[in-house]
Amino acid sequence: MAKTDNSLMSTIVSLCKRRGFVFQASEIYGGIGNTYDYGPLGVELKRNVKEAWWSRVVTARADVVGLDSAIIQNPKVWEVSGHVGGFTDPMVDCKKCKGRFRADKLEDAKCPEKPSKRPGECAGELTEPRSFNLMFKTHIGPVEESGATAYLRPETAQGIFLNFKNVLESARIKPPFGIAQIGKSFRNEITPGNFVFRTREFEQAEMEFFVPPEENDKWYSYWRDARFSWYSELGIRPENLRLREHDADELAHYSTACADVEYLYPFGWGELEGIACRTDFDLKRHSEATGTDLLYFDPQTKEKYTPYVIEPAGGIDRMALTFLIDAYEEEQLEKDTRVVLRFHPEIAPITCAVFPLVKKDGMPEKAHEVETILRRARFSTFYDEKAAIGRRYRRQDEIGTPFCITIDGETLNSDVVTVRERDSMEQTTVPIAELRTFLDEAILNWSR
Ligand code: GLY
Repeated sequence: MAKTDNSLMSTIVSLCKRRGFVFQASEIYGGIGNTYDYGPLGVELKRNVKEAWWSRVVTARADVVGLDSAIIQNPKVWEVSGHVGGFTDPMVDCKKCKGRFRADKLEDAKCPEKPSKRPGECAGELTEPRSFNLMFKTHIGPVEESGATAYLRPETAQGIFLNFKNVLESARIKPPFGIAQIGKSFRNEITPGNFVFRTREFEQAEMEFFVPPEENDKWYSYWRDARFSWYSELGIRPENLRLREHDADELAHYSTACADVEYLYPFGWGELEGIACRTDFDLKRHSEATGTDLLYFDPQTKEKYTPYVIEPAGGIDRMALTFLIDAYEEEQLEKDTRVVLRFHPEIAPITCAVFPLVKKDGMPEKAHEVETILRRARFSTFYDEKAAIGRRYRRQDEIGTPFCITIDGETLNSDVVTVRERDSMEQTTVPIAELRTFLDEAILNWSR
């Protein structure tokens, strides 16, 4: 990484604000702890991350279908799933400064009054650990009484289990098959932090892959490896990625094995995505609690069984942050330094910037024509006619736009444009009629 750890993180945070990727939520009211809004570029970045995930996990496959389930489900769901009883973190309080910390993460925490010390190593004494449930509670209807208590979902996965039978019957699909979903989840984290790495409201991309029990190990390896590769295929540097199998004491209450795809963040290795074996835990629990048959009847063997589940689950916000951090580079050139986000073109918020060389001689009009052609071909574009061309290139480098297309005198004479590629800074003359194919091929052949 080009910068020292802390400075890279604050550089990313300020780039995100300055260029419109991520803003502090409720900023004009002083903000609200660790909550963020995505600006015009951030929302495109997230859309691209979601699209890259969905196209790989769902669209490209015949054996995975999608779902969009409700955030608020029947509260009994969370009792049966084990989240009311078991979705907790151990918490300690400092008797002096009243700070709250995760008891199992004290080595990563800082005393709010003496940041050079860890909680408990300063003058403050810590309470005994207590379990803190991470689910957000709300009320259904106008009465705040216990019968009306509901929860904001802490994972999208349960919506998938609840619809197992509906999907099985309507989609005419059979194990091994998956149901995928992207949506918001909520966790009342004791210590959110590191920008959008850990927030209380976040977007998850999850897929429950239902398999015959005897195929559990095969599919666990398959999804663990497939999900690990996805990140480097989209440009993340392999040296910043690793797979780590969980120790038994780290496993969630529903899982028998889990591997994390981890990334080397400026603040250390952190989880990017988990691939878990959930066995038949969830389907069996919901079946027992409701009396609903959540078995699969195999017409070939004439046997009924509860499928086992392999679950790849990742946070979209965390993925977007990871793509940003990994793409960031300060490149030393002959005369100066340029900031460049080396996003994979599929991830970059804008694919092509379109510039008239000068703001006269019919170049802006021609540039708008070219931009319209590109928009119709579904490229995400940005038109800019302000400032010197070199300055315009740098502004696009800083937000990771892979192609800058310049309209100049040659364009007016012979319908060719200059395409400048972000990483190599090489310029190629391309006929307008071939621009779409040229860009498609460059995107397909992109490598870091
Ligand atoms: N469903 C797994 C998770 O929420 O982390």
